[in-house]
Amino acid sequence: MAIKLSRRAWIRAIVYSSLAVAGGVGYLSSKLLEVVRVDVPVKGLSKRLDGLKIGVMSDFHAGAFTTRGEIIRAVKVLEREKPDFIALLGDYVDGAYSHSPKNVEKGDYVFDVFKGLRAPLGVYAVLGNHDHWTDAGLVREKLSKLPFVLLDNQSILIEDCLAVVGVDDFWEGPAYSHKAMGDLSPELVAVMLSHNPDVNLQLVGDSRVRLVISGHTHGGQIRIPVINYAPWIPCSRKYRGSSGLIRESESRWTYITKGVGTFFLPVRLACPPDVSIIRLRRV
Ligand SMILES: [Fe+2]
Repeated sequence: MAIKLSRRAWIRAIVYSSLAVAGGVGYLSSKLLEVVRVDVPVKGLSKRLDGLKIGVMSDFHAGAFTTRGEIIRAVKVLEREKPDFIALLGDYVDGAYSHSPKNVEKGDYVFDVFKGLRAPLGVYAVLGNHDHWTDAGLVREKLSKLPFVLLDNQSILIEDCLAVVGVDDFWEGPAYSHKAMGDLSPELVAVMLSHNPDVNLQLVGDSRVRLVISGHTHGGQIRIPVINYAPWIPCSRKYRGSSGLIRESESRWTYITKGVGTFFLPVRLACPPDVSIIRLRRV
């Protein structure tokens, strides 16, 4: 016997099946890690550092939907690229819903996977808002057991004329860019690691930082295809759902990675996770 559906039932069936298909596609695409390679022109970069490679990973959200296997794969992909130094940009664990310190233990496997991570010029880490939403002290403690340098509003000279500056999270730290840069000479090239790209608001008029490397936006995580709109806005409008290279001023760029994991839902739409390789080019 044929079942007759009302118009409303048909519409409901079409909407539900479209959501199911989008959810399935989104779940699968959240597993398709890509390597994004980008060249950044840097004023004042020395000849010797031309071509220096920075490996970037962010937004792991371990303990929520990102598995140990996915983080192992991201680390392997990054190591294969042989970066000169590695930048880890926070949200190692997921603080959503409960904001509980227990989430650090739940996502503890991320620190375990990091144990073998090395680079010739070092591995530098900053915290993200989710690390604060769980227990920043505990996350710091976990990172301190690794051969990494945690930059909490601090800078470090890693080559004669290259400094890495790291700020605490812009929302929760907070980030103190000027304190972090201290008395770094304008002759130096400074690369700033900041979980949240909104740190640029603190850098107006400062020419020392040539490149800010950030995560946090997840590239929008869910982007509506065709109109390319990202409804999720975790920062100022300028960086709404942004990823990739953005020109800030004559001398400064921002690069935003889409990150490794997912937040809120185990879904990415038109926005795959990534590991990024930035190459500094002398201009
Ligand atoms: Fe995140």
